[in-house]
Amino acid sequence: MGKYVIKGGRKLEGSLRCESAKNAVLPMMAAALLTEGEVIIRNCPAISDVADMAEIMRALGADVRFCGGDLVINSAGLNSYTVPERAARKIRTSVLMLGALLSRAGKAITVCPGGCDLGGRPLDFHISALTALGAEIDFAGDKIIACTSKRRGAEIRFPFPSVGATENALLYAVTAKGITRIHNAAREPEITDLCGMLNSMGACIGGAGSSDITVYGVKRLKGTVYTPVGDRIEAGTYLIAAAVTGGKLEISGIKSENILSLLGKLRDNTCKIEIKNDIIYLQSVNRGRAFSVRTGPFPDFPTDLQAIITPLACIAEGVSEIEETVFGDRFRHTVELVKMGADITVSERAARIKGVKALIGAKVCATDLRCGAALVLAGLAAEGKTTVQNSCYVERGYAGFEEKLRMLGADIVKKE
Ligand code: EPZ
Repeated sequence: MGKYVIKGGRKLEGSLRCESAKNAVLPMMAAALLTEGEVIIRNCPAISDVADMAEIMRALGADVRFCGGDLVINSAGLNSYTVPERAARKIRTSVLMLGALLSRAGKAITVCPGGCDLGGRPLDFHISALTALGAEIDFAGDKIIACTSKRRGAEIRFPFPSVGATENALLYAVTAKGITRIHNAAREPEITDLCGMLNSMGACIGGAGSSDITVYGVKRLKGTVYTPVGDRIEAGTYLIAAAVTGGKLEISGIKSENILSLLGKLRDNTCKIEIKNDIIYLQSVNRGRAFSVRTGPFPDFPTDLQAIITPLACIAEGVSEIEETVFGDRFRHTVELVKMGADITVSERAARIKGVKALIGAKVCATDLRCGAALVLAGLAAEGKTTVQNSCYVERGYAGFEEKLRMLGADIVKKE
C-alpha cells in the first residue's frame, strides 16, 4: 500500500503549476465514449484514478493512450457495454459509464461503484435522472443492468446538487431526443468544464455553471481536443501546505474565481494573498489565527479541502469550527491528527479544533484520498518524523505529490 516518511519543520517555498482537474478529466473520459471520433484531453494528470478509468474503457473496446502529457481516446472500436467489475469497484466515476453507454449503445451493465469511503454514497439521484430520460434500470445484488429504447428529453430536479448525478444526466441527455432541463444541477467548475467539452463535440448545452442547465439533444457528437480546467483541489492543497509550514507559494494554472472560498479562509488565518493575472501568491505567518469553515456545494467551501485545511486549524491561535454538510462521514482524519497531538472534538458533522503550539510526528494511517493529503501536510508542519501509511490513496488524485513537495523544500520520501 506504500507510505510517506516525512521530517517536519521545513518551510515550503517556491512556485508550482497545477495539473488538469482530476474531477473534470474523469467525466471527460466517459464523454469520449459518446463519439467515434478521436478525443484528446490535454495535460492529463498521471494519477491512478485516470489509469483505472482507462482500464475500464479499454475493456469496452476503446483505444486509450497517453501521448506526452495528453490522453488520446478513440472509441470507434467500442464492442462491449459490460463494465469490468474489479475496475468499477475501485472508482466512483465508473458509475458514469451508465450515462455514456446508454447514450452510445443503449445498454450498460456495471456494478455499484467504489471510491473513497465518506459515509453512504447512494445512487438514487443518478437512477431517477436516467429513468426520467427513458432508461430502464434493474439491480441484481450490486450489479446494475440498464437499457433504453427511447432516449427522450425530460425535466429533472435534483434534491441535492449532486456532481456525479448531474454528469450522468448530461452524458445521457446530450443525444436524447428533445429538450432536457436539469434543475438544482451541480455548479462546480468541473461541471461547467464538462459542458464546455461536450459543446466542443457538437452538443448543445446552455446554463452550465448555474443551477438550471438546458440540453438540446443532438444526433451525433464528434471528436475534440480539449484542455480541462486546472485542479482547484490540488492547488488548494499546495497553498495550505505553504500556509501550514509558514512558507510562501506562487501557484498558477487555475482560475482564481474557482478557489475564492479557500483564499478567504487563508486570509482569515492571516496569510497574505495576492492575485495577479490568475497567479496566486501566498505568504504565510508562523502561527495564524483560528477560522471557521462550513463546507457546501460550489461556490461554498469545497468538501474536498475540509480535511486538508484541518491541520492549519490544529496549529492556529484560538478555536476553529469546521462543519461538513456534504458527506456523512468525513472526519476520519481527525482521529489520526489527535495521534499527532491535535486537540479536536467531533460531534456529528462538526469538528471543534483548539489550536496547539505544535503537532508532534507520529505513525498515522490514511483512510481516503483527501485524508491522506491532510496527514502529509500535518507531517510537514509537525516536529519530528511522521509516517503516513496507505500512500496509494493519495496517488489516486495527486500526480507526483512527494516530488512536488520536495521541490518546494519538504523532507519527504515515499517507501513501498
Ligand atoms: C464528486 O463526488 C467528487 N468526485 C468528490 O470528490 C466530491 O467530494 C463530490 O463530488 C462533492 O463535490 C468526483 O468528481 C470523481 P455528489 P460525487 O454526488 O459525485 C449524496 C475527491 O476527493 N448523493 O455531489 O460522488 C452523496 O451521498 C472526491 O476528489 C445521494 O444522496 O458527489 C453526498 O452526500 C471525493 N444520492 C452528496 O450527495 C446520489 O445519487 C454529494 O455527492 C448521489 C449523491
